[in-house]
Amino acid sequence: MAGLLTFGAWATPAVAQTGDAGRKPSKADPSRVRKILDGMESQIGRYWSTPRKDAEFLHLMVKATRAVHILEVGTSQGYSAIWMGLALEETGGRLMTIEIDTERHRLARKNVQDAGLAGRVTLIRGDAHREIAGLRGTFDFVFLDADKDGQMDYFRKLYPNKLAPGAIIAVHNAISEAGDMKDYAETIRRLPDFDTVIISTTLGDGISLSYRHRAS
Ligand SMILES: C[S@@+](CC[C@H](N)C(=O)[O-])C[C@H]1O[C@@H](n2cnc3c(N)ncnc32)[C@H](O)[C@@H]1O
Repeated sequence: MAGLLTFGAWATPAVAQTGDAGRKPSKADPSRVRKILDGMESQIGRYWSTPRKDAEFLHLMVKATRAVHILEVGTSQGYSAIWMGLALEETGGRLMTIEIDTERHRLARKNVQDAGLAGRVTLIRGDAHREIAGLRGTFDFVFLDADKDGQMDYFRKLYPNKLAPGAIIAVHNAISEAGDMKDYAETIRRLPDFDTVIISTTLGDGISLSYRHRAS
């Protein structure tokens, strides 16, 4: 499995900066996780999972930003959740991920458990347009990867109260499905509280990355 990141990179001693979860030893065994991810990668088309390069990018961003409170909208089989969950092994944080489809939610829960990340990842079954309203606290990293024409509604529900100063919002398919998220893209670019760039690891999908200024 060639890739940018080396398996086992999350199992460094640099855990436990924040919270009790971070002080617990990792249950994610690298060779076991590699097998699970291999299996999931063979199903990427079926479950619309992010390409591996995008998942690696999210993993790196979570570590680099030291994110500890992550929200994912659109779990599917849990592929990106596992990659971000592995990064949380280093930052000591947690991920909440929401999936509307019961079968995918169940599969994701099994995959997350098998990967030894059940302590890092909370899986919610429901419509994220409704579920977000009930979530407590603020998030410092948000990954939006569900219904593309729903981005504006998700953003309205998150900003300003559920988005911490310094937070990152990552939106998948910002290039391939730009038409469906035009209103979101225009809105976030107009808001002075955010810096936004679009990056592409695959020359296809694209990820819109927005940083909320700390002073906003
Ligand atoms: C592109 S897939 C997510 C892929 C996942 N992030 C990954 O990389 O493995 C989009 C998922 O969003 C789910 N979804 C669509 N609308 C939703 C909603 N309103 N609330 C929660 N999940 C939704 C779909 O059922 C689908 O599984």
